Amino acid sequence: MSSQLDLDHPLFQRVSHWVNLINFLVLTITGFLIHSPYPGMPMNLVRNLHFIFMYLLIINGVLRFYYSFFGKHKDYGDFFFNKQDVKTTWPQIKYYLFIGKHPKTGKYNPLQKLAYIALPIMTIVQAVTGFILYRPEQLSGAASYFGSLAAVRGFHYLLMWLFIAVIAVHVYLVFTTAYEQFLFMFFGKGRKEKSVS
Ligand code: HEM
Repeated sequence: MSSQLDLDHPLFQRVSHWVNLINFLVLTITGFLIHSPYPGMPMNLVRNLHFIFMYLLIINGVLRFYYSFFGKHKDYGDFFFNKQDVKTTWPQIKYYLFIGKHPKTGKYNPLQKLAYIALPIMTIVQAVTGFILYRPEQLSGAASYFGSLAAVRGFHYLLMWLFIAVIAVHVYLVFTTAYEQFLFMFFGKGRKEKSVS
């Protein structure tokens, strides 16, 4: 699907993408440390960093969502699944399994779209579970939906691993099959070839 952009990644998208990377890095590292603290760790600092970056993640997500629909280079259409995506999903899987050719796709291929749709949904779930942990007294009713506060913690922790898995695949595919896209994400140059990651 064409987004009618003359740039692959306009400045706002690029800034938002790299801010997201920093947010996820800090949240993952501090999350790990909160989960498994070591003796003498500056717990307050680690927790406060987690709290600051969780707000940055949410603000960045809300701005990116707004931009997708109302920004100058709105690009929500690039992420929606269409009939062509349904047809090219299996060929795309075969391509990744090294048993087929890369199908003709729009700016993003169907598996890429699924990943890019999954990430904001996962972020919302992570924010909900995170806020239950942040305000356990006020949100004890919400915690009971998960069974207990301990279950919410476990869920928040497991979801971190899902983030790590999705982002690892994303990074692997960018560097193995679409290195130019990595440069475009930095410099926002015009599109020269289809992205395949
Ligand atoms: C908006 C999003 C988020 C909110 C509101 C949030 C909030 C929280 C809170 C309040 C805690 C408990 C801190 C404590 O008790 O000292 C926590 C722990 C944690 N967070 Fe987040 N967080 C968010 C995003 C993330 C992300 C994106 C990751 C990783 C990808 C992450 C990973 C973790 C981990 C691993 C823990 C430790 C859980 C445990 O104790 O087992 N969080 N988070």
